[in-house]
Parts: sequence; C-alpha cells; structure tokens
Amino acid sequence: MPEIFEALDPPSRLLMGPGPINADPRVLRAMAMPLLGQFDPMFTGYMNETMALLRQLYQTENHWSFLINGTARAGIEAVLTSIISPGEGVLVPVAGRFGELMCEIAERCGAKVHAIETDWGGVFEPDRIEDAMKRFKPRLLATVHGDTSTTMAQPLDDLGEICRRHDALLYVDATATLGGMTVPVDDWGLDAVSGGLQKCLSGPPGSSPITFNDRVAELVGRRKHIERGIRPDGYDPGEGALIQSNYFDLPMLMDYWSESRLNHHTESTSMLYAARECVRIVLNDGLEERFVRHEVTSRAMIAGVRAMGLELFGDISHKMHNITGIMIPDGVDGDAVIRDMLQNFAIEIGTSFGPLKGRIWRIGAMGYNCRKDAVLTTLAAFEATLRPRGYAAPPGAGVDAALNVYNTA
Ligand SMILES: Cc1ncc(COP(=O)(O)O)c(C=O)c1O
Repeated sequence: MPEIFEALDPPSRLLMGPGPINADPRVLRAMAMPLLGQFDPMFTGYMNETMALLRQLYQTENHWSFLINGTARAGIEAVLTSIISPGEGVLVPVAGRFGELMCEIAERCGAKVHAIETDWGGVFEPDRIEDAMKRFKPRLLATVHGDTSTTMAQPLDDLGEICRRHDALLYVDATATLGGMTVPVDDWGLDAVSGGLQKCLSGPPGSSPITFNDRVAELVGRRKHIERGIRPDGYDPGEGALIQSNYFDLPMLMDYWSESRLNHHTESTSMLYAARECVRIVLNDGLEERFVRHEVTSRAMIAGVRAMGLELFGDISHKMHNITGIMIPDGVDGDAVIRDMLQNFAIEIGTSFGPLKGRIWRIGAMGYNCRKDAVLTTLAAFEATLRPRGYAAPPGAGVDAALNVYNTA
C-alpha cells in the first residue's frame, strides 16, 4: 500500500535566517480567501490595485509594475530574458552569490556577460563600474542591491546617471532589500527592478514584484510575438528577436496586465492575494517608518553581536539593514550552533554559501520579524547556545547592548 502520510503539521519556528522569514499572519489569512476566476471583474480589480500598490512600494510612476508568478529568480529571468537579445553585452558586478546568479541567468539568455569582481564582503565604487561600462559598452548593467550571501548592499544612487551617460539600461535585483531599505526607482534612475516576497515583505516565496519604465517597455515591445492560439485580428509581430521564454515574456505579460487582458498564464490567485496584502501592510506602516525600523534593528544587532565579543563580517558601512553577518570564531562548530538554535529554541539562523559557507553565520531581522522581541530573544538564545559550544560571551551583554540601542533610538 503506498503511504499517504500524516496531515501537514509543521512546528512554529522563529525564522531569523536570511529568508524566508515568518509570514505576517495577515498575509496568510489573505491567502485563505476564496479563489476567483481570472477574468472576474473583482479579481482584475485586485490586479489593478496590486499594480497601484507596487508603484508606491517602488516609489515610481512606472505604469508597468506587476507580479511575475514564481520565486524571486522568476522576476530576474523575466527581466533579463525579455531585455537581452542573444549576443548583447551585459555588465554584472559580482560581489557574492547573487551576482553570480545574475551572470548565470544572463548567460542562459544568450548574453555576452562581462563580470567584474570584488571580494565577498565588499561593494563596488561607482568609478570602477563606470570604467567597466566604458570598456565593455554593454546594453545593460545588471546588479544586485542587497547580496544576501554577503549581507552587503551595493550603493545604487550613482548608477542610473552612469548608465544614461553610456546609453545602457540599468536593472537591479532588490529581492533582499525591497520593503526594508529604500529603493526609490525613479530618483535613482533604475530602468527595471525585481523583488521577492519572502524577505522584508513578510510573505511566502512564490511571487516576484517587478517594475520597469517606458524605455524598457519600448525595447521589449519591439520583441512582441503573441502566442499563436490567442493572436487578435490585425496582429503585427515586432521586428525584434523572439523572447526565448513564453512564461517570462514581458510583452505578453503586459497584455495580460492591461485592460485588454489578453490571456497568458492563469494568474496565481492566492499569491496575488498574498502580494497585495504584503505591500498593503508595508504602505500602511509607512515606507519611511519601515526603513527606520530596519535601520534601528541593524544597529541593535551590531551592538549586541559586538558586546558578545564576536566579529562582524564585511564592510559594515555597507551592511544591509536586515541581515547581519557574524564571523564564526575559531574552534566553534558553526553548523552545530545552527542545529542547537533550531532544536533548543526553535530559532532558525543560517550560514552562507561558497567561500563563506561555514565561515559566517547570518542572522536576519526583517519584515514581520524586524521586531525588538525577536531580536532580543535571538541574541539571548545565541548566547546560551554558544557557551556549551566553546564560546563564552559576557553573560547578558548582547541583550543589554541591543536593548540600549532600542531605548535610545
Ligand atoms: C538577492 C537575492 N536575489 C535572488 C534570490 C533568489 O530568490 P528565490 O530563491 O526566491 O528565487 C535571492 C534569494 O535568497 C536573493 O537573496
């Protein structure tokens, strides 16, 4: 007899790793709402509302602000595969795992990828990026904002200007920072940006909010080829190369997300409810309030970790506000600490990838978990976990130092 297993009953954990984090209960409730058909006026109304909310989240006038169904990398693939025609140049600054991911996705889109590299734990000076733009003359600069693997945030405010000077587009992967650190799309001149729900937006993974401006809309519009079974009368295909993916074809998605509602995929109803609620909650709190909360939390984490005598990872002046990297002290079994935190306290923290695997811990405090109680509980549990694993921090010092930051913020 094939086994049918027990009903799902996962334990409740405090997810203080690099993401996913605990979803806001209001988001989970939204996901349990009744399904509607995709052309029900009520549902298409929710689609339009989601677009309007995303514009506010992204601080943009961009009409084209909508959801890609799939995790954050679905948003990356949709943007890259629709913008880049095979053989075109893309410049990618690589400072961690997600810069590498950008290169890999761009390569799969047929791009000629020019990667520049810096040590993990650092960021790029704008001059270095501009020099590379002069040298390689790419059509697109594709960069990560917060590279979760290193906990560093690349400054973006000069890059829009640089791209304009060199007649290139600028795309940013803001998966890990959106809703926790400011990403003012129009002020910074970002042509396209994508994100994910499972970090500072307090939702489950599975939907990627994207935004792009008219420059991008025009460019991808020249590659518009509507799939055969749904072509309207008078259909006139674009002269540009066919976009390699049907699922991530932005021009077809634009038709679906416009009044023509030309059918593409079946919009993921429950994920749309989730995304709409995630963004509604952030805007209801106030964007500025959210950014300040993450910044104060970052300072509390830094103070707590330092007071425990532990060393922070990377160039702290560029640290993401929602994640903290901590060097694993010599002689301490980092994996065992992660295991003990989960088993004894039901708190998840993480290590990192590649050269940082087993060298650092990453503790996230973002979105729904960007709260004083979550930070203090995690620091207290961390101290108690480290002691039997060979690292004795001054008792209570971490919690006291973090609390002091909150009390004086
Ligand atoms: C900066 C960044 N980009 C992209 C991704 C990929 O996201 P997903 O796993 O949702 O596809 C992640 C995931 O952690 C990320 O942190």
